[in-house]
Amino acid sequence: MKWLSEDFKNLREMFVFELRMMLSAEEQLVRALPNLEVRATNEDLRNAIRSHLLETEGHVRRLEQILKEQKDVDPAITSIGPEKCKVMAALATETDEMITDARDAWVRDAGLIMDAQRVEHYEIASYGTLRQWARVLGMHGAADLLDKTLQEEVNADRLLTSIAEQVNPTAKVA
Ligand SMILES: [Fe+2]
Ligand SMILES: [Fe+2]
Repeated sequence: MKWLSEDFKNLREMFVFELRMMLSAEEQLVRALPNLEVRATNEDLRNAIRSHLLETEGHVRRLEQILKEQKDVDPAITSIGPEKCKVMAALATETDEMITDARDAWVRDAGLIMDAQRVEHYEIASYGTLRQWARVLGMHGAADLLDKTLQEEVNADRLLTSIAEQVNPTAKVA
């Protein structure tokens, strides 16, 4: 596993490595979200996925902007190389399998919301930590950008919770 073979000399190197991991995660989401939107039935859920896709494209741009300012960090140590964020890849695979298994539209919507919230919680945990590291490292501009993304992830998660309250009771329970 790549993580165990890394030799981070300081928090800054791990910060850059984890920024690259999140860039991989967000890029995977930009590719996956249009498919989720198409498979969703509830109008509010479709709209939420579509508007979060636009925000996710912004998350990619913010990460690229922060990474551009980290040129002095050794790319041999912080590169994720051909590896990518395996968590996001696994979540996407699980979602594909759920979509295949859930033929009932309302049951599928309930599953899509669960999978989307798993993604948001992963992002919330990651950006919360990265924002804190940026503050410790004295990178206040980066911390502000990471905070903006974090707030959008939190809002997306809250919106999904409110849509779930509307969608879940409509799913067949037996
Ligand atoms: Fe994101
Ligand atoms: Fe997100």
